Amino acid sequence: MKEATTSNYDIKDINQAEGGRRRMDWAEHEMPVLRQIRERFKKEKPLKGLRVSACLHVTTETANLMVTLQDGGADIVLTASNPLSTQDDVAAALVNQFEIPTFAIKGEDKMTYFKHIRAALEHKPHMTMDDGADLVSSLFFIEMGRFDNLEPSLASWARGLSDQERSELLKGVIGGTEETTTGVIRLKAMEADKVLKFPVIAVNDALTKHLFDNRYGTGQSTIDGIIRATNVLLAGKNFVVAGYGWCGRGLASRARGMGAQVIVTEVDPMKALEAVMDGFQVMSMGEAAKIGDFFCTVTGDINVIDRQHFELMKSGAIVANSGHFNVEINIPALEKMSTGKPNLVRPFVDQYTTKDGRKINILGEGRLINLASAEGHPASVMDMSFANQALSAEYMAKNADKLEKKVYSVPTEIDKEIARLKLEAMGVKIDVLTDQQLKYLSSWEEGT
Ligand SMILES: NC(=O)c1ccc[n+]([C@@H]2O[C@H](COP(=O)([O-])OP(=O)(O)OC[C@H]3O[C@@H](n4cnc5c(N)ncnc54)[C@H](O)[C@@H]3O)[C@@H](O)[C@H]2O)c1
Repeated sequence: MKEATTSNYDIKDINQAEGGRRRMDWAEHEMPVLRQIRERFKKEKPLKGLRVSACLHVTTETANLMVTLQDGGADIVLTASNPLSTQDDVAAALVNQFEIPTFAIKGEDKMTYFKHIRAALEHKPHMTMDDGADLVSSLFFIEMGRFDNLEPSLASWARGLSDQERSELLKGVIGGTEETTTGVIRLKAMEADKVLKFPVIAVNDALTKHLFDNRYGTGQSTIDGIIRATNVLLAGKNFVVAGYGWCGRGLASRARGMGAQVIVTEVDPMKALEAVMDGFQVMSMGEAAKIGDFFCTVTGDINVIDRQHFELMKSGAIVANSGHFNVEINIPALEKMSTGKPNLVRPFVDQYTTKDGRKINILGEGRLINLASAEGHPASVMDMSFANQALSAEYMAKNADKLEKKVYSVPTEIDKEIARLKLEAMGVKIDVLTDQQLKYLSSWEEGT
């Protein structure tokens, strides 16, 4: 285990550790599947001797994952996967109580964010654990000498490395895991471009991940983030959800549950049709922009809310994003349409005044609002997501030498086992197929 010293961590305030630890324990109570894995990891040490660099949202749930990996024998460095998602008390607890070197400060600027990624790279990982693929993409850009693609301070550090030092950063990596939809999209693009240098398991693609985490976790916590930031009543308001994927479905149904009239915008006809049949109004953003009171993007796409949409919005509109990157809302375009800088009218609420006198409120600087102004997904869904992470790390440790430089799905056995363990922990019993049913379901002879 690497001891955390002042030179190998960068957090806001070590004195917050006690509170962080209490919140970690609260989350752990809701994570029975991960707890079982942790008990086994303590005995079996499947990650013994492996250096793991994790770039994840630094929350209570992530902290419990880190401790599980540490108990499994891993030597971990943790860095934030978003400048606004860190819970500073949790970062303090990881350093102070578990001696896990952690580099994350809520509200850090871009340079600090990438200084922290550099710390994760300097750990010379055998395994990467990403949420959004910033860690692996930085690693590959450095190894390929594509410094212009890097944040300037990271680029200047990388330029100072010898060719050998650069290639050594990558040499020891046996594989990685990726948590979210956007990261998986980036990794699949890397695979297609033949620049992916090691196998990666797409944790997001496990059913026990996206069916629950993206849908119920993002659904609930995004509403939570919007309410905590604004304290505005949702009932009776027009709530526009951009994107009807896993996150969008959850968000739309939760907003409806709060009494809002939900409008969905989509680009995929199948998803749009599903939203119509689920009972939502579906229209283009150009139409929705005129009537929306709340807007929330969850697409993984760029400029979903753009200048032409801001031009149509009512004064007082509240605009948020819960997709991975802060590019879904074109904030630079809004800045150009506005008179001067925005006013921070409440924490996480930037109010822009357009040149024609309307007020447009952007929440959490357009970063994932459930982590910026709330606490991210509830522990109960992260239990399954992080059980997938822990078991995928174990699988990678055992099988990396047999895998190609590709993006792999989580093995079905792992996915099913997590569902079984979760049901067991919830005390839910289900039926088992009889021999007759097994035979019937695998034959074709019996019909009408
Ligand atoms: N906030 C969180 O904690 C959290 C959690 C999980 C995933 N995510 C992120 O949320 C985003 C969405 O994830 P998902 O799993 O729902 O993905 P998904 O692929 O299931 O859904 C995305 C949907 O957006 C639609 N879309 C794309 N461009 C659009 C546009 N211009 N206008 C309207 N719709 C558009 C797509 O057709 C698709 O249906 C990703 O960036 C993902 O990484 C965030």
